[in-house]
Amino acid sequence: MADASVSPSPPAPGPVTEVATAAAIEALDESAIMNVLRGVIDPELGSNIVELGMAKGARIDPDGLVTVKIALTTSGCPLRAQIQKDTKARIESLPGVTKVKIDWTELTAEEKSNTMAVARKNAVDQAGDTAIPATAKVLAIASGKGGVGKSSVTVNLAAAIAANGLKVGIIDADIWGFSIPRMLGIDRRLEAVKHGERAVITPHSLPVPSPTGPPGRLDVVSMGFLVEDEESALLWRGLMLNRAVQHFLEDVQWADDLDYVVIDMPPGTGDVAMGLARMIPRAELLVVTTPATGAQKVATRAVSMARKSYLRVAGVIENMSVFVAPDGAEYALFGSGGGEALAAEAGVPLVGKIPIIPEVSTGGDEGSPAALADGPAAEAFADIARRVIDEVAPPVEMAGCTARMFEMAEEALAAFDAEQEQAHADESATVESSS
Ligand SMILES: Nc1ncnc2c1ncn2[C@@H]1O[C@H](COP(=O)(O)OP(=O)(O)OP(=O)(O)O)[C@@H](O)[C@H]1O
Ligand SMILES: [Mg+2]
Repeated sequence: MADASVSPSPPAPGPVTEVATAAAIEALDESAIMNVLRGVIDPELGSNIVELGMAKGARIDPDGLVTVKIALTTSGCPLRAQIQKDTKARIESLPGVTKVKIDWTELTAEEKSNTMAVARKNAVDQAGDTAIPATAKVLAIASGKGGVGKSSVTVNLAAAIAANGLKVGIIDADIWGFSIPRMLGIDRRLEAVKHGERAVITPHSLPVPSPTGPPGRLDVVSMGFLVEDEESALLWRGLMLNRAVQHFLEDVQWADDLDYVVIDMPPGTGDVAMGLARMIPRAELLVVTTPATGAQKVATRAVSMARKSYLRVAGVIENMSVFVAPDGAEYALFGSGGGEALAAEAGVPLVGKIPIIPEVSTGGDEGSPAALADGPAAEAFADIARRVIDEVAPPVEMAGCTARMFEMAEEALAAFDAEQEQAHADESATVESSS
């Protein structure tokens, strides 16, 4: 299926490619750029740079060069590098963009106070600890069609990341086909507890040993923890899927030390991708495909849906690549080349390939992820986890800014409390004087 939002596979320069590129550049406008910038978070201020008023507009040149103006609170903070990297990656993922330039400035005193007002409101909104912290990277595991191994990749990748001593949340967004509870061997129910006005749930937490240092952790939520059985989950089919996903994003008491949140997306990504983009625009997609060319074509559709929703596609993972027989001979049971082709077509890295390994399947059935045992499956997932952490979607770097962040959050909360107190005092004064 031809789609303008998927860049054609790397340049076989010729009239057709040139026309396609010119059309893509033509289709770019400032609002598309500003939309992808909603995915760039200032982790210190807990919101995206558009909402914070830091993205000051974009210019698109006829050759595909995009220049964005970004104003920082102070130009000295190391987070500038993070914002720069995210901004470039997001804009470059738009078809037609050939180069990205950032024009840095500083917020004026007045703008700064507006920005701080937004940040303060966010600090207060998040005070209930129920939203995913701004410092967690959000990775959605998606594919065009079912059965390619999204859930297996979600569980094993999350476990392999956690085995590096990191804290990883897992959201099973496959509301009626949930399989995460079985794959992690958890069958306890989660109870919602009253938290102020709202009912919130605390995720199931599993420690994950790390061979190199302090242990990591998996914090898991799934519809499977909330309903009696898969049949009751089916009743949800008619309800809006996005409501359930929103519930998992907002009404869960996510720990504030999370480094990653990995989301197992239901098959057929259209609606959910759009919903996710609205609820958490900084989410990035890892697209799973099998090596078969048919699967790859369907996965291409998932990529273009994501891009239409302005979600960044971070990379491709090929699952069930080859079967390695005990004598070392390799059999490409499901074809070959699908991962490479999809990655080239989407212009994103092929993060890794996972062979067909019986332990992935048996580990899933027994509730003990193969990534946490020894063997080729563990090695494959460890490699992919390392690439994710080092290159594809590194954790948010807070070094140097953390102390300032806490200071700022505390100041914001103190200011809010003072405002509230003042408002109460004013109110009672009014009541007294009128009585
Ligand atoms: N690399 C692998 N080697 C062997 N078996 C695998 C591998 N990856 C997945 N499987 C098996 O393939 C089946 C489908 O995998 P999984 O449930 O993870 O796919 P899915 O994309 O989440 O499916 P659905 O669309 O139904 O949610 C499972 O039985 C799983 O154990
Ligand atoms: Mg699944």
